[in-house]
Amino acid sequence: MGLLGSSSSCSSLVAVVLVLNVVVVCNGGKTSTFVRKVEKGIDMPLDSDVFQIPPGYNAPQQVHITQGDHVGKAVIVSWVTMDEPGSSTVDYWSENSKEKKQAQGKIVTYKFSYYTSGFIHHTTIRKLKFNTKYYYEVGIGHTTRQFWFTTPPEVGPDVPYTFGLIGDLGQSFDSNMTLTHYELNPQKGKTVLFVGDLSYADNYTNHDNVRWDTWGRFVERSVAYQPWIWTAGNHELDFEPKIGETKPFKPYTHRYHVPYKASNSTAPFWYSIKRASAYIIVLASYSAYGKYTPQYKWLEAELPKVDRTETPWLIVLMHSPWYNSYNYHYMEGETMRVMFEPWFVKYKVDVVFAGHVHAYERSERVSNIAYNVVNGICTPVKDQSAPVYITIGDGGNLEGLATNMTEPQPAYSAYREASFGHAIFDIKNRTHAYYSWHRNQDGYAVEADALWFFNRHWNPVDDSSNGQS
Ligand SMILES: [Fe+2]
Repeated sequence: MGLLGSSSSCSSLVAVVLVLNVVVVCNGGKTSTFVRKVEKGIDMPLDSDVFQIPPGYNAPQQVHITQGDHVGKAVIVSWVTMDEPGSSTVDYWSENSKEKKQAQGKIVTYKFSYYTSGFIHHTTIRKLKFNTKYYYEVGIGHTTRQFWFTTPPEVGPDVPYTFGLIGDLGQSFDSNMTLTHYELNPQKGKTVLFVGDLSYADNYTNHDNVRWDTWGRFVERSVAYQPWIWTAGNHELDFEPKIGETKPFKPYTHRYHVPYKASNSTAPFWYSIKRASAYIIVLASYSAYGKYTPQYKWLEAELPKVDRTETPWLIVLMHSPWYNSYNYHYMEGETMRVMFEPWFVKYKVDVVFAGHVHAYERSERVSNIAYNVVNGICTPVKDQSAPVYITIGDGGNLEGLATNMTEPQPAYSAYREASFGHAIFDIKNRTHAYYSWHRNQDGYAVEADALWFFNRHWNPVDDSSNGQS
């Protein structure tokens, strides 16, 4: 909890206190004192076991799934074959039925500088039953591979569901720790909400797209079995005119498909899904969002569609955070905040997850929407209709941690810590969700920061005092 609600009231108190010759710091919440070994991130070498190519001629690799429709009855299965196109057919069957069904997909390829991709398969399986375990098989001949996933329960207001949160993952030794901690967290996440910056291949010469392939093999152990919901980050741009690469997001859009058309979006960078009791809106920090742009018009039409009696939990994912008190990427999210924040308050978004800053931060419920150029009212204020903003860009990529913070900690910042980790958002029912953040240095069950979220539609009372950090 902050000492004070806003910096304007804070400054007047500072004046009074200074007269009394007492030192007071206009602090916000808590800056963690946790001390870790700070080292530069190092990517795992190409011959690491996590990058191993599955054995056999043309064996499917980089298998990944994501939600394939608006409600969770479809799954997009994607994988890569390196030697020849092979088949885009997915065989699948439910746990309780031995009857195999087939879905057909398509193959895409792309070139990037000197790199030519493998054959990237995307196949959507539709008309699945809710809450059912399915097995699926890809590949042909002697090199088929089998995986499984469980579909979500039918969308409804009191359906419990557990989401994992990972951002800015990359493929360093720290990335591997983050993924392992997520997998071994006793609060089992069923779907990952990924807030952007996947492979960091663009840190290599000519954006060496081999590092997109290694990343696909690295995360397969999770994303082949549970959907990851994708958000585009700046490391997905791969815009490099000096090597002739002028089509932004080329590797990302060829490799990672999302069900954007199901929510009437016109581009794969902003879209929505429903899953269990959550309505999840994915926004694009690196696509136009000014007035009259496709993303602006889509979001304007989208928010009124959210029915909180059906999906009480309104969650927004984006890459660049709006509230960030680190000295990294400071204010980069500001222009989007100016455009969309009044809507987030009007429609009572529960929580916004962002990445980009390689650290962890959780805000109070604040808004900053009163400013109209002439009135000078430009300080974030406590607002029970506003979301909590969480920066979870601490997946552990090779660029290392953001350790430098603005001081003093602003009043809107409830907790911040420069450590790698992941989070869990565990929806219990329409009124309560339990949120926890887990740093990599701790045991798998340890919660370094935790908060009971009270739903903004069904239970809009102040939940800021529930922090257990
Ligand atoms: Fe980023």
